[in-house]
Amino acid sequence: MKIAVVGGDGIGVEVINEGLRVMKHLTPEAQIEKFDLGADRYLRDGTTMPSEIMERWRNEFDAIYLGALGDPRVPSNVHAKDILLGARFQLDLFINLRPITLLDERRCPLKNKDCDDVNFIVFRENTEGLYTGIGGQFKRGTPDEVAIEQEMNTRKGVERIIRAAFTYADKHGRKKVCMADKANAMRHGHDLWQRVFKIVAAEYPNIEASHLYVDVLSMEMVRCPERFEVIVTNNLFGDIVTDLGAILQGGIGLAGSGNINPNGVSLFEPVHGSAPDIVGKGIANPLAAILSLGMMYTHLGRPELEKKIFKAVQDTLLADQVTPELGGTLSTTEVTDAILVRLSSDVST
Ligand code: NAD
Ligand code: IPM
Ligand code: MN
Repeated sequence: MKIAVVGGDGIGVEVINEGLRVMKHLTPEAQIEKFDLGADRYLRDGTTMPSEIMERWRNEFDAIYLGALGDPRVPSNVHAKDILLGARFQLDLFINLRPITLLDERRCPLKNKDCDDVNFIVFRENTEGLYTGIGGQFKRGTPDEVAIEQEMNTRKGVERIIRAAFTYADKHGRKKVCMADKANAMRHGHDLWQRVFKIVAAEYPNIEASHLYVDVLSMEMVRCPERFEVIVTNNLFGDIVTDLGAILQGGIGLAGSGNINPNGVSLFEPVHGSAPDIVGKGIANPLAAILSLGMMYTHLGRPELEKKIFKAVQDTLLADQVTPELGGTLSTTEVTDAILVRLSSDVST
């Protein structure tokens, strides 16, 4: 196992250090190479993402493990665009896989919902949509300014993410796939999503295919999360609804994700950002980073390690061994200590 590691900015560095402690415990044989990328590097020497590094990630590594990028000192966010979006686009990480799994029902903000009710997964398109940067500004800073951000939807891009959602459902015994768009207002791109969804759904007669406009999806995720098993949606909507999903599963500090290229190297990261408001305080929740590591293990053919992580995280939550944003008193490091104790005493296989 050869893993490229980028802590990045803010609490990204703090939580990835904890994830690495877990990685060293579970797979001491894993080879780790750390890359000094992020706002500090950019402010020091202007480097965002050297193309040689991207090529090394593509060719030499089994996975990439990343914290977060984003720093108030870099308002343009150019380094995050080059590093994170750069990796998503250039390494063709077209599936942004974001599970919404409630592990401790007391942590769900919804009334009368248990762990069976909040248990679905979002397939977020990760290489096009509104994220490509196509567009421009004209007469910037004047009263006549025009700013255009174009949404790109390709037949290939839409089809492969929808197909990935159905393939996953089929393989994992999930019976329902729901696609969310805004085709009532966005007649060009989202009409394409509707047509392609129907075509791909027809290949999976045993899976119930449904559609919701994304505004209603947001409402239904709160009203009735149990109706969802697999959700597929575009890049921007997927970003937004997975932060909503994160809070349904107990908090943004509990949401892990994978940026997957089924035929190449993939990248694993927490859903949360660099959290400048809590950086340096030692209170960032490391569990999202640790759960992302679990997803990485499954992707690399070691699902038993993800199961162990899952169980250890669940037991740690149930024992209230958590950071302050979840009402606990433990530090970032102490939460990982609690995880490591559980992993060490885990006798199950
Ligand atoms: P954020 O996720 O960083 O923080 C939102 C809120 O959640 C904050 O109050 C923060 O303290 C809290 N929070 C987040 N993670 C936490 C954790 N592990 N433990 C405890 N509390 C946690 O979102 P933001 O404030 O909008 O973004 C900050 C920066 O991070 C921005 O520059 C943004 O662009 C970037 N960002 C990066 C990524 C990424 O690299 N994948 C993801 C999201 C945001
Ligand atoms: C995420 C983040 C990123 C996104 C930002 C940092 C560009 O919010 O991974 O969820 O919007 O994809
Ligand atoms: Mn986001």
